[in-house]
Amino acid sequence: MNTQEYIALEEAYGAHNYHPLDVVVSRAEGVWVSDVDGNRYLDCLAAYSALNQGHCHPAILKTFIEQAAFVTLTSRAFRNDRLPLLYKKLHDMTGYDMSLPMNSGAEAVETAIKTARRWGYDVKGIPENKAEIVVASGNFHGRTTTIVGFSDDPSSYRGFGPYCTEAFPMHEYGNLEDLKSKITENTCAVMIEPIQGEGGVVIPPDGYLKGVEQLCRENNILFLCDEIQSGLGRSGKMFAHYYENVRPDIVIIGKALSGGFYPVSAILADRSVLGVIHPGEHGSTFGGNPLGAAVAIRALEVIEEENLIENSAELGAYMTDRLRAIDSPHITEVRGRGLWIGLVLDTKARPYTEALKEEGILCKETHENIIRFAPPLIITKDIIDWALERIEKVLTSK
Ligand SMILES: Cc1ncc(COP(=O)(O)O)c(C=O)c1O
Repeated sequence: MNTQEYIALEEAYGAHNYHPLDVVVSRAEGVWVSDVDGNRYLDCLAAYSALNQGHCHPAILKTFIEQAAFVTLTSRAFRNDRLPLLYKKLHDMTGYDMSLPMNSGAEAVETAIKTARRWGYDVKGIPENKAEIVVASGNFHGRTTTIVGFSDDPSSYRGFGPYCTEAFPMHEYGNLEDLKSKITENTCAVMIEPIQGEGGVVIPPDGYLKGVEQLCRENNILFLCDEIQSGLGRSGKMFAHYYENVRPDIVIIGKALSGGFYPVSAILADRSVLGVIHPGEHGSTFGGNPLGAAVAIRALEVIEEENLIENSAELGAYMTDRLRAIDSPHITEVRGRGLWIGLVLDTKARPYTEALKEEGILCKETHENIIRFAPPLIITKDIIDWALERIEKVLTSK
């Protein structure tokens, strides 16, 4: 079957909940993907940062295959011999006492919400069913009904209500005065992305994360940091909140935690916070299964062994500088941290992402006018140069 035939099948029988580029990928290795017609592309999106280690990483693949032959799923009714090692690895890499594994990112966000509310009732003493979590404008934390209920993007929330909006007051992202005004005696947490990825790689003003931490400390509130997209090296540091030397009470991770092999997510916290969850109060059939745990351990090791965080910082700075030097009347801003760059245009981005596809580069617009570049962190300078040549051609030719 060729590209058009696959697309016809998908359009006929699949829900139309995405608007993908018309490329049908059938093979991938490292930073490269190939489509069913034999064309090769550079993946400059890395599955929205789930592939920081690159496609089909050989070391993770080996673990995946080996573990699949031992035991894949036990459920949490029994213990397994991989999950304790993942707990230990996460503790060693991040310094948090404990973690709680789930599958998708949205489930981990839900887990953080439940943990923060439970902490609010059991530790802070908030009256039953009154706990509030302050969120930020422009947020993206996933697609469950609770989560879309505190989005300000109509394409996320419209038509899926009713919502419990009073439980999630919203402050303007980056505005500490506004955040302060939204805090009440019933606030149990503030939840933010340290950089907003889906928002278009939006970096808050310097001092914002520090200010959020301080307001949380002053008011006995938990600081929840969603690092699902920004974490595990994407921003040029292990976590984007390291840029301001803060220590959130709960860090939410997912995506690259499994190197793209398997949905694995988790929340990280100290015992004083995560200890509020007791047996039977939260869980998931697949969360913490041995296959996911084995893959996650190996995926984390690859980040360390291959210095992916350093590579992200170094090549990200290089790529950002080179993009800033492109003389195109359509580029209004280039912003980024690490290999995570938003190219803001004064016009619709889709024709450019389609033109880039024709040049062999896969990336995606976010909102109408922003192109997000987030290649696997294993990318090399030579390949970035190859890409920059083509990006410059596309952005200066229209
Ligand atoms: C910051 C952030 N939080 C949560 C999610 C949701 O993750 P998932 O799609 O795995 O549910 C995403 C996905 O893009 C994200 O970027």
